[in-house]
Amino acid sequence: MAYLLGVDIGTSGTKTVLFDEHGNTVSSSLVEYPLYQPKAGWAEQSPEDWWNAVKTGIARAVAASGVDAADIAGVGLSGQMHGLVMLDRDNRVLRRSIIWCDQRTSAECELMNSLVGKEKLISITANPAMTGFTASKLLWVKNNEPEIYEKCAHVLLPKDYIRFMLTGEFAAEVSDGSGMQLMDVAGRCWSSELISLLGLDMGMLAPLYESVEITGRITPQVAAETGLKAGTPVVGGAGDQAAGGVGNGIVTPGAVSATIGTSGVVFAHTENMTVDPKGRVHTLCHAVPGCWHVMGVTQAAGLSLKWFRDNFCSPEMTAAELMGVDPYVLMDKEAARVAPGCDGLFYLPYLMGERTPHLDPNARGAFIGLSARHNRADMLRAVMEGVGYSMKDCLEIIRGMDVPVKEIRASGGGGKSPLWRQMMADMFGRTVVTTTSSEGPALGVAILAGAGTGVYSSVQQGCEVCIKRNTVQKHDRSAAAVYRRSYPVYKKLYKSLKSDFEKISNL
Ligand code: XUL
Repeated sequence: MAYLLGVDIGTSGTKTVLFDEHGNTVSSSLVEYPLYQPKAGWAEQSPEDWWNAVKTGIARAVAASGVDAADIAGVGLSGQMHGLVMLDRDNRVLRRSIIWCDQRTSAECELMNSLVGKEKLISITANPAMTGFTASKLLWVKNNEPEIYEKCAHVLLPKDYIRFMLTGEFAAEVSDGSGMQLMDVAGRCWSSELISLLGLDMGMLAPLYESVEITGRITPQVAAETGLKAGTPVVGGAGDQAAGGVGNGIVTPGAVSATIGTSGVVFAHTENMTVDPKGRVHTLCHAVPGCWHVMGVTQAAGLSLKWFRDNFCSPEMTAAELMGVDPYVLMDKEAARVAPGCDGLFYLPYLMGERTPHLDPNARGAFIGLSARHNRADMLRAVMEGVGYSMKDCLEIIRGMDVPVKEIRASGGGGKSPLWRQMMADMFGRTVVTTTSSEGPALGVAILAGAGTGVYSSVQQGCEVCIKRNTVQKHDRSAAAVYRRSYPVYKKLYKSLKSDFEKISNL
């Protein structure tokens, strides 16, 4: 039996999972680390914290498995995307990493547009200038911390820094690399033209690989520290969204996932590169060689429900503690008592501004349509429906790009709620299924490691072996009819409030 190790370097912690070749979890470990927010809108993490978490996580997972390290065929790395890691000539970390959710780079995005031209930037990178993406972060350091920029010899993404520590090799791969906004995304290579227009140095970037290619091998020193065997191959791996896509089996045309974590992501596989000219969804290289993906992002999906739980659901939280169950299970029951459409009550989930479809950092959350008949349960259901409508916004743009959509696979914490899944089935007018594994990105990169080391003949074959359908929910005609009438009202509400949101942000 072959085994595969998937390591997911996330924002709250690193999850390390050892799978057997059928995709069953053998052992796993989660090691957490802090997020630093030195100023409002800034977000940083320490690459050394990631490295310590990865070393500890691998050592624990290998030791707990009882598996002979010689049977571990390969390692796959998944990582939070877009984070900027800078190393000096002696490979020392120069500053904390500025990570994906940091918003300090609006001026650098303007600069990118003026240096390259808005349209040209989209035509090369498939996306408009994004504060979250890496290029604007690198320009920020160049403009604001020139003494650090001058010392910089290597620019890496979070998981590619970990790869360097595991193997001694500098390498990047296309799915995460396209979120740096320095790649020619159609050509799956760095864009020397763009990099020189931005005044950046191509020599700082690592060679690019496809996600299944072997990029290096575990060094003897790391082997001694973790229990892995020296020489174990490490494949390219993927950014966490593409890795989660593979882990949910989104590797063929028509396959789409709807993931409700803190944010919500609707993710579709495409065989050809398709770009939304308005930049409302991201187009990036997929981890499946020669394929791409599109994804729409709702900033506050699970976060909206968590916000409601923390502020309004103390009865459920107290009862859940006594009963030893998850408060969300009780909240689901409460929301299920309310009829679809919440008797005209709407919630706009813009607690953190919004990416898809509005690209508006000033957007705010709102309850609209309250009457004296409404109560807390109506508001709870309205929160879940508002997130559902927002995910539908993502799906509608993807469908408008002629991307085929057959079946939706629900995942993430919110995907565990049968009520939320049913809402999505009813709103999307599509069957919503779940799969047997909840390990998403870690399973995805383990499958990539299997495809790269010959355990599977392709990424698709690895997915067929490891990923099985679990629950299946079809849409209910009468609920779907309610949502068909309500959705246009939901869409109109943002337009009506847009200028007020801007005024609110200037108060
Ligand atoms: C994707 C994105 C997040 C991060 C952190 O564009 O910003 O998914 O990768 O998880």
